[in-house]
Formats: sequence, C-alpha cells, structure tokens
Amino acid sequence: MSGLKYLLREEEIGFFPKWEKIFERKAPLFFEIGVGNGEFIVEMARRMKESNFIGVEVSKEVLRKALAKIEENRLTNVRLIHMEGTKALAKLFESESIDGVFLNFPDPWPKKRHKKRRLVNLAFLYLLSDRLKKDGFFQMATDHPEYAEEVYSLLKSLEGFSPLWEDYIKTSIDEFYPTKYARKWLSQGKTIYFLGIKKREKIEIPDWVKDWCPLLKIRKEETALPIVNIFKIRPKLNFLEWVAKLRGAELYKEKLLFIKVLDLFYNEESLLLDLLVEEGIIRQRFFVKLSPYGDEGYMLTPYDSDKPDPTEGVHLAMVLILKSLKEGAFYFELKKSTCKEKFLKRFLGENWFEDRAGVK
Ligand SMILES: C[S@@+](CC[C@H](N)C(=O)[O-])C[C@H]1O[C@@H](n2cnc3c(N)ncnc32)[C@H](O)[C@@H]1O
Repeated sequence: MSGLKYLLREEEIGFFPKWEKIFERKAPLFFEIGVGNGEFIVEMARRMKESNFIGVEVSKEVLRKALAKIEENRLTNVRLIHMEGTKALAKLFESESIDGVFLNFPDPWPKKRHKKRRLVNLAFLYLLSDRLKKDGFFQMATDHPEYAEEVYSLLKSLEGFSPLWEDYIKTSIDEFYPTKYARKWLSQGKTIYFLGIKKREKIEIPDWVKDWCPLLKIRKEETALPIVNIFKIRPKLNFLEWVAKLRGAELYKEKLLFIKVLDLFYNEESLLLDLLVEEGIIRQRFFVKLSPYGDEGYMLTPYDSDKPDPTEGVHLAMVLILKSLKEGAFYFELKKSTCKEKFLKRFLGENWFEDRAGVK
C-alpha cells in the first residue's frame, strides 16, 4: 500500500505519543476527525508547512486513499491513524496540547432515535475543551442546520468558549477548502454551516464525562503498567470445568459497563478467555491467558499481542475472573496483582496488598 510510512498504528503509539519526536520537530499541532479521502488535511498541510497534522478515520477503505494522497504530495507534516475520533482525542493528546481540531461533515444521524450517535455532544465538548490549548479552536462544517444549532446550544451551556468569528455559525468562510462532501452538498444547492469556537479558559472534566469515556480515568503512569496476576490455587485447575462454567458468562452488567466471557479455549497448559468489556463509548475485545506459573501457581494476564487499554473495566474483568476461580477452590492465595486495589478489596476481600509492601 502506498503511503504506509504516514500511517501510525494505535497499538504502537499507545497513550499520549510524543508528537515532537514523531515529526522530529516542535510545531503547532492540528487534528482532523474523519479525514475521508484526505483532501482537506492534505490541503491544510500544504498551506501550513510549519505545522504538524494528525488525522483519524474509521473506514480503512478511504484511509487508503488519504494515505496515497499524502504520498503523492510528498508531505512530511501529516500522519494518519485508523481510529475513532473521540477515542483518539482522549488517548493521543495530552491536556492543552492541540492548536486546532477540524471536523468536516460528520455523519448527521438525522433520525430522532439515532441522534445520540452524533459525534459532537456535551461530553465531547468537555473533552475537546480539555485537549485544546488556550486560544485553540474547533471548526466544524455540516450541511445539517439542526446539528449545527444543537452544538451551538450545547456550547452556550458551557463556560470557557467564545465564537471563532463574529458569531458561532457562518454559512461561508474564505479559507475553507471544499472537500468531496462540501462539493456534493453545494452541487445540490445546499447551504453549508460552519461552526467555529475558540477556547478561552480551561473547564474541568466532570466525572460523568469520565464514565462516558473511561480512558480519561487512566493516569499517565498507569498506561505502561502491565496487568498481571499471580496466584496459587488448590485443587489444581481443571480447565474443562472452567470452560463449562464461564463460557457466555456475563461477569458484570450495569448501565455503562458490561463484561462478558464470549468464549474459552484450552490445551493441557493454558486457558484462553475471549473477553468483551464495554464501558461507555469504549468497547474492547481481547484474550486473557491463564497459564501455569512456578510450583502450583498460575498467571492471569491479557494475551501478549492484545494489549487492551487498561481501563477500570479491564481491571474489574480480571478481578472478576479471579473471583470466580477463587469461589471454586478450597485454597486460593493471590501472590501478586497489578489490578486496582479497590476491585481486589471488593471482590476478593483480602488484605493481601497491605501485607505485601511494594506490590500495590
Ligand atoms: C461524510 S464523510 C466526510 C469526509 C470528509 N471529512 C469530507 O469532508 O469529505 C464522514 C467521514 O467520517 C468518518 N467517520 C465517521 N465517524 C467517525 C468517527 N467517530 N471517527 C473517525 N472517523 C469517523 C467516516 O468514515 C467518513 O469517512
């Protein structure tokens, strides 16, 4: 595929990548959500050679076209990632680190019952306000007047933003490059609405927004910490029995958190659990491996290549698996765990972490 060197992989860059290192220079940073065929980001990167641009897109097919376009233009100041926009905003950018965010023609979800699928909502605006630098901007283009109005009314309920232009919404802006979708709507005689805001001051992210996007609860130092549990159990685990007990088991179900064991696989040595963790807008499916460790011991850890984001839901899922293993045993001793203490305390009911200084 052409343009591969402009593609960054989410699993490789992880949390809060050092953009200055990736671009090998310090420069203003701009972010586009839903780059489509890449026309807009390429044009912006050509116009503003002194700035760095990151774009994300959920469709692999159009992402391929965008990569080819960057290659054609031999641009060194753009990188693209196959990633969802809100997740990218939360995971890839530190607080107050972006100079400007562009969103051109987000899916309007016009039906009333689908409206909650819209990308821009109140929670998104809180997140945006946190990630933008002071005086950083957000520019959105849409052919859907009601979407623009809705965002405008949400903004009015938030302190800390001011209009980018003389007003929040305009129907034309000089510098706008007409993207594929802009051309499509204009050729149909539709009006395009531009909504522009500037961040005046920082707004604290409320806790409910962190429940909506649980990546926001992960502290920076936790992002590199492997999730590992080592325990001793008797009698020795009979994997066949565990397969029957846990296959399809819903380990946790609450409004914003759902944990399920979709399937299990085993051989003489190890057991693999295919796990689903849905938390707010983040959905993660990954394997967890249970394998022998030392004398009579076992290790429970996400499978090497899967690397789920270490959200509270992932920690909780691991602890709930330990809980169900413990329930079937006459002897269970947790030797080491990097899972959150609050879950270990609540579900395993042990003081093991207090007795073992250094293993928190
Ligand atoms: C209507 S098209 C607009 C494409 C381009 N911005 C333009 O103006 O021509 C919307 C694009 O956003 C992408 N998209 C939709 N939701 C997204 C999300 N949550 N994160 C990233 N990309 C998204 C779609 O795959 C699609 O390519």
